[in-house]
Amino acid sequence: MSRPHPVQVIAVSGGKGGVGKSNVSVNLGIALAEKGRRVVILDADLGLANIDVLLGIKAKRNLQDVLNGECDLKDVLVNGPGGIKIVPASSGTQRMTQLSAMEHAGLINAFSELGDQIDVLIVDTAAGISESVVSFLRASQEVLLVVCDEPTSITDCYALIKLMNRDYGTNRFRIVANQVRNDQEGRVLFDKLTRVTERFLDVALQYVGIVPYDEAVKKAVQRQKAFLEAYPRARASSAIRTLAQKVDNWPLPTTPRGHLEFFVERLIEA
Ligand SMILES: Nc1ncnc2c1ncn2[C@@H]1O[C@H](COP(=O)(O)OP(=O)(O)O)[C@@H](O)[C@H]1O
Ligand SMILES: [Mg+2]
Repeated sequence: MSRPHPVQVIAVSGGKGGVGKSNVSVNLGIALAEKGRRVVILDADLGLANIDVLLGIKAKRNLQDVLNGECDLKDVLVNGPGGIKIVPASSGTQRMTQLSAMEHAGLINAFSELGDQIDVLIVDTAAGISESVVSFLRASQEVLLVVCDEPTSITDCYALIKLMNRDYGTNRFRIVANQVRNDQEGRVLFDKLTRVTERFLDVALQYVGIVPYDEAVKKAVQRQKAFLEAYPRARASSAIRTLAQKVDNWPLPTTPRGHLEFFVERLIEA
């Protein structure tokens, strides 16, 4: 067997819906692909159809078909903008956390096959703190939380951090401030979140940066395009590139946890 190839697994979450998780996932993915990374996005939002709507993609197959043994994971991958690949949403992602032993083995195989072909797996999670969201966060090496300057976003984000910390001992979270006016506002928002978490929990929050509020994001969503592609010179796009630069410098996984197989194993353990 070849030596497992380190894959950066990043779960994007935040508690509240509508904060920008999917936009950050997709555009960060494209920005990392621009840097030569091979990126796959796992659309794990089971609620409303998510990335497929965001990008106007029609998927013929999804993860459910892999679990049913009808095809391989590579048959499910859809080509997205900028060279990223997408594993489309399905009830399959929820089922990923509730599988039989046979299915576990199948899924692990499916992801290990993929392992040689990707560098970064971004998991775009659903809103809320359901069991399946928590499993994805637990299984991922990096947890990237998207937060907006709204009381509900901050409290939801706090609730998520608290749950992950109390129940699973996760103590490191990366924070992106979305829909803020500038970096200063992003810092202020980050400080707000840090104050509550530091007071009550033993966690380290790491500030990654901001995506400014930008009409280009809204226009791109309406056109079912990624803003980085539709408006490459928009403020949001340069901010995403700055984020990607930082993400690209994050340490690669040194623990088995960073390998795709182990991602799936941890997912299933939950
Ligand atoms: N930086 C931004 N500037 C302007 N609007 C934004 C920005 N980020 C998100 N939005 C708006 O918020 C909506 C929800 O974003 P989305 O990424 O789908 O959130 P989530 O996945 O968290 O539910 C988008 O359709 C867009 O209209
Ligand atoms: Mg979403």
